Amino acid sequence: MLGAAGASLAHLAGCGGGSGGDGGMGNASSAMPAAPPRVEPAAASSTAPSLPIIALDPGVLDADGVRNFALAVQRGSTQFRTGINTDTLGYNGALLGPALRLRAGEKTSIRVQNHLAEETTVHWHGLVVPAEMDGGPHQIIVPGAQWQASFTVDNPASTCWFHPHVHGSTGRLVVMGLAGLLIVEDPAAAGSGLPSTWGVDDLALVLQDKRFTTAGQIDYVLSSGDRVNGYVGDTLLVNGAIGPVWQAPRQWVRLRLLNGCNARFLTLRLGSGAEMMQVANEAGLLAAPVTRQSITLAPGERAEVLVDFSRAADGQDVSLLAATVSGGMGMGGMGMGGSAGPPEVAAMGFRASLPRQPGAILQPPGTLASVPAVAASAGATVRSFSLGGGMMSSQFTINGRAFDMGRIDLAVPASTVEIWRFTNATGMAHPMHVHGVRMSLLARDGVLPPAYECGLRDTFTVEPMQTVTVAVETPAQASPTPLMFHCHILEHEDAGMMGQFITV
Ligand code: C2O
Ligand code: CU
Ligand code: CU
Repeated sequence: MLGAAGASLAHLAGCGGGSGGDGGMGNASSAMPAAPPRVEPAAASSTAPSLPIIALDPGVLDADGVRNFALAVQRGSTQFRTGINTDTLGYNGALLGPALRLRAGEKTSIRVQNHLAEETTVHWHGLVVPAEMDGGPHQIIVPGAQWQASFTVDNPASTCWFHPHVHGSTGRLVVMGLAGLLIVEDPAAAGSGLPSTWGVDDLALVLQDKRFTTAGQIDYVLSSGDRVNGYVGDTLLVNGAIGPVWQAPRQWVRLRLLNGCNARFLTLRLGSGAEMMQVANEAGLLAAPVTRQSITLAPGERAEVLVDFSRAADGQDVSLLAATVSGGMGMGGMGMGGSAGPPEVAAMGFRASLPRQPGAILQPPGTLASVPAVAASAGATVRSFSLGGGMMSSQFTINGRAFDMGRIDLAVPASTVEIWRFTNATGMAHPMHVHGVRMSLLARDGVLPPAYECGLRDTFTVEPMQTVTVAVETPAQASPTPLMFHCHILEHEDAGMMGQFITV
């Protein structure tokens, strides 16, 4: 049952924000070898493509102070490998989409034109917007139709993203190429001193995996294993390119990392063994930078890190690597084999070949624009969600039920902070995501999360047999339009590991 219980969890103070340092997340980080070997990336080869830079779209500010964007959802053709034309989908192009630059507090309008021969939606993952503007499964755009999302940006500076959310076909549409970025800037919170020159020292990296047929087309025929574990590709792509290289300036660079995979968890580290300084999780800046050796991102999650290329010798490669860690599944053909732990592959290479650029950040800030966490009071309503299924079947459930478009699972009062507890009764990790709310982690199995898990969140992993407790600030306005909460392994979501709530 999805009923409320009035129990008190007063001892769950949530994130204190003080503790720094690298930490573990269940089997995720324990799967990393202690002293990872240096992996020579395929990306270092002379034939490696250069990294496609996601186009930053600043929109058009009109006389009424509304920032306007237009997205065309379209079919296209992409050469992932030279000479092979692969059918793909994209926003305003053949593959992926632009990065829409939004500003906190600004009225924004995004017009979406569906040029596909099938239904789509565009969901603003991470944005706190009214339910009818959310682009979830109820905001269907039929072929040839237009949909306009209008809202005031109510998020702090963060890296969010957008993707389709048609129930039952989200996984396929994303693998075909539909994913774009939302770069939220907050001029009022300026002075955080982070690198912010797009494509120069502020770089967005969309990490995804795909499988191809022998004819070179994207293969989205789900095996029985895919139906349980989610779709896993044998080819890792960064911004739509296989093993690309980026010519880096010898200075501090911000990397905005998105795990845009349908199902793969990615553990990222620098091939040189250099540290990354994490400055943001998926919903906003951390209180202070946290030094990380590696970062695990669940599907749908983002992180922003600073990397120091200033000491790299001219032309030296520092590769960004990925390893899969979820649910005991292998890397298939992706792996480079070798020692203990899951095989590691090179996602891309960095070649520190450019001199320091004007305006370079010489010293990263010691503190960042602090985002207050959502705090729950002692008497807050507690709701429990049990994640089930998957053992022998591809049926995934929340509280024993698979998603039903026509059933409202939950009605929450507007503008209230509640405590939601997600218990994972399955043998695999599920990254849970809630639409349209502000949310912070309180505890994993009663233990406070590490600093890099603090602040606002929109997606969080629940490890097998673990209970994760979050504080949820419900939407400001009552609305009969449902908002979703679901597993972001898209095949689990498509198979029913999703529920919907309305705000009363
Ligand atoms: Cu990224 Cu409900 O989605
Ligand atoms: Cu979302
Ligand atoms: Cu799942």
